Amino acid sequence: MKRRLTILGSTGSVGRQALEVVRAHPDRFEIVGLSASSSAKALRAQAEEFSPEYVALENSDATSLDNLDAKVISGPGSSRKLAELPADVVLNGIVGFAGLAATVGALEAGNRLALANKESLIVGGEWVLDLAGDNRIIPVDSEHSAIFQCLEERGEDEISGVLLTASGGPFFGLEKVELLDVGPEDALKHPTWRMGAKITIDSATLMNKGLEVIEAHCLFGVPYEKVRVVVHRQSVVHGGAILRDGSVILHAARPDMRLPIAYGILYPERVDVGVEPVDFCGTSWTFDEPRSDVFRCLALATQAGKAGGVYPIVLNAANEVAVESFLNREIKFLQIAEVIEVSLERATETGDMRSMEAIESVDARAREDARRAVREATVR
Ligand SMILES: NC(=O)c1ccc[n+]([C@@H]2O[C@H](COP(=O)([O-])OP(=O)(O)OC[C@H]3O[C@@H](n4cnc5c(N)ncnc54)[C@H](OP(=O)(O)O)[C@@H]3O)[C@@H](O)[C@H]2O)c1
Repeated sequence: MKRRLTILGSTGSVGRQALEVVRAHPDRFEIVGLSASSSAKALRAQAEEFSPEYVALENSDATSLDNLDAKVISGPGSSRKLAELPADVVLNGIVGFAGLAATVGALEAGNRLALANKESLIVGGEWVLDLAGDNRIIPVDSEHSAIFQCLEERGEDEISGVLLTASGGPFFGLEKVELLDVGPEDALKHPTWRMGAKITIDSATLMNKGLEVIEAHCLFGVPYEKVRVVVHRQSVVHGGAILRDGSVILHAARPDMRLPIAYGILYPERVDVGVEPVDFCGTSWTFDEPRSDVFRCLALATQAGKAGGVYPIVLNAANEVAVESFLNREIKFLQIAEVIEVSLERATETGDMRSMEAIESVDARAREDARRAVREATVR
């Protein structure tokens, strides 16, 4: 049976790798839709190769998509409209807060969601989980895919925690003083993964792991104290399930996103995507404690997650503003954590975060606060 698949963010790192899986197994997929923000040329080329029923372009002029066989959806909200169309699975590979609307659209329409866009779970939390109902969200983040696979078929009473590994990013082992003048070009050199710019900076600050701690808490229902984070430089062990009797079941694979993407979109089936099994001999696996004195974003994220309510939304918004400001060279690397900390301190709003309106309002306010914190940081 062919899977009817929609790929949101098909022009990005996750999206392009999903299309590699489709290219390797054309008999397994029928493409319902592909979407991008503004990369119209790349989206057109993908549509010509994969013949989707729909293409959606969110933030740019769609005239360059004229005369395609696909129907064109364009303008703000187009990714969400695409996510709502009936499909067997919607892969959300949009980056950042912008992915929330499409996550909500896919779930409200009753579509299964393969989720790479972790930000929508950070900001949507319980509300997004409730929208999913019995229709499980299949995680695509490599660590959560690993944990998901280790937890399969296990009873709740067997589980005492989950293990999340972190590569440590390009600055692992450096002291604060050595990070004073690192620039975007240094932070974008990830040792093991090739990913979009935002998640690569998040990996360098360890905010990515912080977001993933919240993501693991939401997806697997484990208390924050039971999410164990370790730095594993080789990025071969991706995650694990810690069992009541002290056993730990680990998931290992070469660091290649095509594996969790293929598993997410074909769950529960597995296909060969051209990734060799791990080579055990002549290699070492190391595990270290993360340095939260140098990389403060991990602790800030865990605190925001534990506080709940508006705090994960503020954390995410401030991080997006800070990362963009760092990439634009407006602030320094270590100031990313400062901007986030100040924004969390300034958060005042409360209320029920179970609607797009409520979440968007807190997000917008937090972005203003974070931009103010960036301006204050630049005059110091
Ligand atoms: N890359 C990885 O290996 C990896 C691994 C695990 C998890 N993730 C997660 O997966 C998500 C995507 O990451 P990525 O690295 O693939 O990002 P990316 O390379 O920057 O790609 C982002 C995609 O989202 C689209 N997009 C951006 N802003 C949008 C908006 N406002 N509305 C609609 N579409 C928009 C982009 O379109 P344009 O091309 O037109 O800009 C692009 O197709 C992130 O949440 C990330 O944390 C990524």
